[in-house]
Amino acid sequence: MAGRIPQSFIDELIARSDIVEIINARLPLKKKGREYTACCPFHNEKTPSFTVSETKQFYHCFGCGAHGSVIGFLMDYEHLDFVDAVETLAAEYHLEVPHEQRLNRVGSIKDQKQPLFELLEQASRLYQQQLRQSNKAIDYLKQRGLSGEIAKRYRLGYAPDSWSFLLDKLGDNPGNIKQLKTTGMVVEKSATKRYDRFRDRIMFPILDRRGHTIAFGGRIIDSGEPKYLNSPETPIFHKGDELYGFFEARRAVRNLKRIVVVEGYMDVVALAQSGIEYAVASLGTATTREQIQRLFRSVSELIFCYDGDAAGHQAAWRALENALPVLRDGLEARFLFLPDGEDPDSLVRKEGSEAFATRLNNALPLSEYLFDKLKTEIDTNSVDGKARLANAAKPLLAKIPASVFSDLMYERLAQLVGISASKLNDEQPGADTQDAPRPKATFIPDKRQIRQNALRDAIALLLQYPAVAEAREIPDFFATSSLPGYALLYELYQTVKKNPGIPPAAVMERWRDQEEFEILEKLLLRNVYGTEERSGQAKVFSDAVQRLIEKHQRARFEILEHKLERGGLSESELEEYKSLLSR
Ligand code: GTP
Ligand code: MN
Repeated sequence: MAGRIPQSFIDELIARSDIVEIINARLPLKKKGREYTACCPFHNEKTPSFTVSETKQFYHCFGCGAHGSVIGFLMDYEHLDFVDAVETLAAEYHLEVPHEQRLNRVGSIKDQKQPLFELLEQASRLYQQQLRQSNKAIDYLKQRGLSGEIAKRYRLGYAPDSWSFLLDKLGDNPGNIKQLKTTGMVVEKSATKRYDRFRDRIMFPILDRRGHTIAFGGRIIDSGEPKYLNSPETPIFHKGDELYGFFEARRAVRNLKRIVVVEGYMDVVALAQSGIEYAVASLGTATTREQIQRLFRSVSELIFCYDGDAAGHQAAWRALENALPVLRDGLEARFLFLPDGEDPDSLVRKEGSEAFATRLNNALPLSEYLFDKLKTEIDTNSVDGKARLANAAKPLLAKIPASVFSDLMYERLAQLVGISASKLNDEQPGADTQDAPRPKATFIPDKRQIRQNALRDAIALLLQYPAVAEAREIPDFFATSSLPGYALLYELYQTVKKNPGIPPAAVMERWRDQEEFEILEKLLLRNVYGTEERSGQAKVFSDAVQRLIEKHQRARFEILEHKLERGGLSESELEEYKSLLSR
């Protein structure tokens, strides 16, 4: 197994490469002012909203929100995993990618996750091998109509009927046994009693968006309970964030535009076999906002496909509620309800893929589904009913970010209940505007807002203009502050200090496998008020840090005061308290 790629090499590669050049070779760009533009390759559009910034070495689509560095672009555009993207980029500049010897050190979260990915990859290979040797498993898949080719593409496997298959194969030392437990592959009842979680099941490996195996779903052969068994939540698997089949869909379909969200593993695989290669499944729970957001970063059209029964409608409604805050102009969500007793797997086998694709094409737009559903629940013939409909719809519409789509929804509601749209809007409760684009011309920042944004501003400035790190030192106590984001800011500051001249995209790479990565990507794009000039940058940064220090001190003071009241301050705490008091 190849070792890690050294950080220094990734830094150098990003410093040497030019995102404009790399993207332009794949997607011709036009210069427009200081930036470059094209029609976005990640969603369907006629006028270009995809922009590439040479100075930030970052791309961003104002239509669908896709964004990233040159490595991110290669990953998304060519459906590569991280290492492949680095290799591709290095090849463009005739650089050889070095791989570090695997070191046994306790390092970052990234280092802690890598061995777990590798362990599950090994487990997946073993299961695939077992499938090839098991007539029982092969017969089952055949009887369900799956081809060998599709089983291979989805890396289906078989966990043999043994309490210690994985334990015997992979648990040859205490470290490995610990990792088998961490990944949920082995269950431990007591120090001496442990066993394989998955036994005598067809195994569906769940891949993350970079292709790491992070969990499994296992189906019982024929019948029994439970029908499906899934990996538990682990450090590398958060059910609500992942989607079965997403990686495979992005790999299979170049220029993916549409994704169908279905309920089952078998549905995804059966649809793929029939040529509908863009289905994904949420993992046995309602489709979450995070999942929808993730999907909309890759495609502009989602079709949620559910059973036509009550449970299906309930699941669809939850998906609708979770989709609303994520819908921006240019994105479309639709709903398809299947005939009673059918799921996508059974239906596509019965009708064929063309008929199924026709159903998809005729799926109900979110707006229709929303109003139809409310209308069936509320009788709108009376004045009273109309008011109730308006009251039921308004909190839903308020979730939609300000957009043409949102305006149209209000107009539609206004028509339905016979009130003018502006009147409805007047009473609109405080919309969730967190994700909404801020109208530039009317945006006058008030002081309180600036203060709340100090942390984001400081991080954004460090990313965008690393030189600001010279303007103001960040004290060491940030590293251990209990306030959210302080430690991240500190780590970022140290990274920038230790690597003078490092490009922002290279700074970002250090967080790629961590949860903060997406936040950092967003902040790299954040426009910070008052930083158009260089002097402004240093000042805003240093003011922001000052505010954060004060906020920390206020928090400490409260904690210490509380402790003091209960008589429990240590000597050093007392010192701290006194010095805070004298400020
Ligand atoms: P097949 O019966 O093999 O066609 O499965 P399916 O994919 O059609 O599954 P079904 O519609 O019964 O369920 C949809 C999804 O719900 C599955 O893919 C699982 O993710 C989940 N699920 C179903 N049954 C169970 C269960 O017993 N336990 C758990 N944890 N999840 C289940
Ligand atoms: Mn099924």
